Amino acid sequence: SKRYTGLIDNYRDYLPVHDDTRLISLGEGKTPLIRLNNIPRLIGKDVDIYVKYEGLNPTGSFKDRGMTMAVTKAVEEGSKAIICASTGNTSAAAAAYAARAGITAFVLIPEGKIAMGKLAQAMMYGAVTLQIRGNFDEGMQLVKEVAEEAPVTIVNSINPYRLQGQKTAAFEIVEELGAAPDYHCLPVGNAGNITAHWMGYTEYQKAGICNSAPKMVGYQAAGAAPFMRGAMVDKPETVATAIRIGHPQSWDKAWVVQKESGGWFDELSDQEILDTQRMLAQTEGVFCEPASAASLGGAIRDVKNGKIPEGSKIVCTLTGNGLKDPDTAIAQCQASIMETIDAKLASVKESILRNMQ
Ligand code: F0G
Repeated sequence: SKRYTGLIDNYRDYLPVHDDTRLISLGEGKTPLIRLNNIPRLIGKDVDIYVKYEGLNPTGSFKDRGMTMAVTKAVEEGSKAIICASTGNTSAAAAAYAARAGITAFVLIPEGKIAMGKLAQAMMYGAVTLQIRGNFDEGMQLVKEVAEEAPVTIVNSINPYRLQGQKTAAFEIVEELGAAPDYHCLPVGNAGNITAHWMGYTEYQKAGICNSAPKMVGYQAAGAAPFMRGAMVDKPETVATAIRIGHPQSWDKAWVVQKESGGWFDELSDQEILDTQRMLAQTEGVFCEPASAASLGGAIRDVKNGKIPEGSKIVCTLTGNGLKDPDTAIAQCQASIMETIDAKLASVKESILRNMQ
């Protein structure tokens, strides 16, 4: 048996690396594909729903797949510093892989609008953390401009190596299911990940490893849903801060994915996103961050309304770990679940008997 050393080593033949490329890896990839047992029963529909739990990557999100490639290539090309704008997960991954490589990471994050765990990661991994008085889209614009004037490599998903790394999630799914699913649902922000998955599925189809590719379905938060509006959104707002994006960087590519795959875009309210996050945790034991729940929430709605027919095999990507955003989790559960009691046997017993009913 061979030690697992990350997705580049695992998928060398499909990735732009050489035999002697120094791989910057933290063992990312090979995340669990969990079949939901309780939710299909609860909604009374005969569908196979799997969640790809990307929150179990080394820094807790799918960004590690792209970052191992982007940083590996940056180092190979002699770069000493990387930079990104981020709603929190890209910056966590950039910071970690830069630390691993021994180079500097500069991260631009929207002040007050990233989840606590993600902020902790950027700081702990030692990135130069620049909070901007502005949103992600403004940060992205600044990053593009400054990279023209300073010796830094952009590691946002406009860096083509990012999508190359991220496409490997589709490879893993095909290998595990023995075929492509009928539908693949993802939360959409910049639309890099939906584009990367489509690359992965179509490459495996061309290589004869699967003989179909799924319909790709992208779900956005209603306050940050440019694909639903058909136009950029200037002041995006949503509780799902990871996808609080109004000017998607992969706009054109994602429309091609939608057309080629026969999929669609839709939007969810913040309440639907939070309800799905909680239901998934409390009925299946899987804790994802709010943005991630958009994929499953949208899929459940489209199964209920028949847009996704019974008998379908569906994969929903859970892009990030629930531990990233403890504040949002606690805020929505506190009232219903937490009680403060005296440190007395009688009080504990009373609570058990009352809550068992
Ligand atoms: N889900 C999570 C948890 C994310 O962090 C992101 C993007 C997405 C979904 C959307 O993916 O942009 O490829 O469509 N986060 C970026 C960041 C913007 O900075 O961490 P996308």
